[in-house]
Amino acid sequence: MEDSRHPFLEGLSKHRGVAPAVVVIFGASGDLTARKLVPAIYNLSVDNLLPNEFHLIGFGRKSIPDEAFRASMEDAIKQHSRRTLRGEIWQRVRAEMSYTSSDYADLKGYEELAKKIDALEASFGRPLQRIFYISTPPNVFEPIIECLGKSRLAKTNHGTQTASKVIIEKPFGRDLKSAQRLNRVINQVFDESQVFRIDHYLGKETVQDLLVQRFANAIFEPIWNHNYVECVQITVAEKLGVGSRGGYYDGSGALRDMIQNHTMQLVALTAMEAPKSLDPESIRDEKVKVIQAIQPLKLGVDQSDVVRARYASGLIDGKEVAAYLDEEGIPKDSFTETYAALRLKIDNARWKNVPFYIRSGKRMARRTSEIAIRFKRPPVNLFSEGGRFNVTDNTMVIQIQPNEGITLVMNSKIPGLETRMQPVKMHFRYATTFGSNTPEAYERLILDAMIGDGTLFIRGDETEASWKLIDPVLQHWEATKCDGLELYPSGSWGPKSSDAMLNEKGHEWRHSG
Ligand SMILES: NC(=O)c1ccc[n+]([C@@H]2O[C@H](COP(=O)([O-])OP(=O)(O)OC[C@H]3O[C@@H](n4cnc5c(N)ncnc54)[C@H](OP(=O)(O)O)[C@@H]3O)[C@@H](O)[C@H]2O)c1
Repeated sequence: MEDSRHPFLEGLSKHRGVAPAVVVIFGASGDLTARKLVPAIYNLSVDNLLPNEFHLIGFGRKSIPDEAFRASMEDAIKQHSRRTLRGEIWQRVRAEMSYTSSDYADLKGYEELAKKIDALEASFGRPLQRIFYISTPPNVFEPIIECLGKSRLAKTNHGTQTASKVIIEKPFGRDLKSAQRLNRVINQVFDESQVFRIDHYLGKETVQDLLVQRFANAIFEPIWNHNYVECVQITVAEKLGVGSRGGYYDGSGALRDMIQNHTMQLVALTAMEAPKSLDPESIRDEKVKVIQAIQPLKLGVDQSDVVRARYASGLIDGKEVAAYLDEEGIPKDSFTETYAALRLKIDNARWKNVPFYIRSGKRMARRTSEIAIRFKRPPVNLFSEGGRFNVTDNTMVIQIQPNEGITLVMNSKIPGLETRMQPVKMHFRYATTFGSNTPEAYERLILDAMIGDGTLFIRGDETEASWKLIDPVLQHWEATKCDGLELYPSGSWGPKSSDAMLNEKGHEWRHSG
């Protein structure tokens, strides 16, 4: 800590009621802190959204002097912030950064941390809310929470401005049992209102806009149901392979890494009923209800709602890339999937007989995350004669990344003396309408956690509901190993059986082949 303290952004603050705060990042020497967390905090300070009394403490096993931590965070901001480093603001932020080193399971380290926070409170002359951001690998989530409980750090005065909060990174468990256990450990120390489970997809503008599009537009909500929707397709596709993270990824796979969390969140927001209000609990209640309404997945040989595959070699951007099994750190007997597709049936009145197809994969043809709502044909189709009209299904595509926006696909007459038709697209692009320098997901999430707004975080019962659906699939795959694990060429849109699953009902993936 530096001797001459500047009140944090004194005189500039227009903060949204953020109580004075100390943020402690566990795992602060890691990749996420450098790439996302500290740049997000810097950008919040540029926007005057931090409280006057603010301090950031990095916590980790390595011994890092305060000055060295500040210097590495300066480099991180220069490299990763959406805005350039501004000297005057950075000087104030860096003065309020320090580092504490300790083993994550050593209570002494937490006692030192407590003393440091006491000293900060004394120098600010007021209590600080304690925000504990757990950004370590998951093997130390539990010891950290237990130590926060055993030390006097996790104040439980929830409902007050100085209540502690804990923000937890993904992955939240690796199956239902471990997620339930982690929830129990957390809830022994923190009240659920103090817990903020991250799914950074929820911090993305387009994902937040889903509720606005659905519930603020009279043209969409009345047709958002089985009377008008033929099917819903959600795709989270990456071009990248596992790279140097093979060892980590092989213990996870597409179902755990992407489907159980990000993709299921997209399903919940797309399918949920209108909440009673914008209150976080009302929204999360509706999300839980719709996840719980998904029927158990069929896993039979003849009838299956799931497909899994892993990438073979192939071409990405014209370059030959290795097969999954040839990547660094992947055991030869691996049966980990790099692609998973699921057919979900939601057992409620709104979505009767409307399949939700979801898929996620690595080494796919293109990087894209999108939700496509495919509508039914009009009841009377004047343009069906002899197949001479090229009529297409209306589709609404919500593009989450890249090129965030919404596209409506509809039929239009081609100008000319004959009646000929062609699908046309109406685009709305965030960057065109609002400019491209929008806040990053982590800015919104860190600010909301400091305010105590849990809307964009996953509640304990929500994560368990999602694991309940996924767990039998994981167990089935564990038992069947490589049986039924297909291959797809890198640079393609996935395995053939995924296309076949949609074809059963006369559907096709929006991008396939
Ligand atoms: N990086 C991303 O883009 C990203 C994206 C989404 C979610 N996440 C999640 O965010 C968390 C942090 O990710 P990260 O990429 O920053 O992780 P990381 O760089 O692998 O690890 C963060 C820090 O944790 C400590 N650590 C590493 N391995 C450990 C071990 N086996 N036991 C105890 N401590 C260990 C290290 O700090 P010390 O040695 O100083 O203790 C390390 O600097 C993870 O839960 C990850 O799943 C990351």
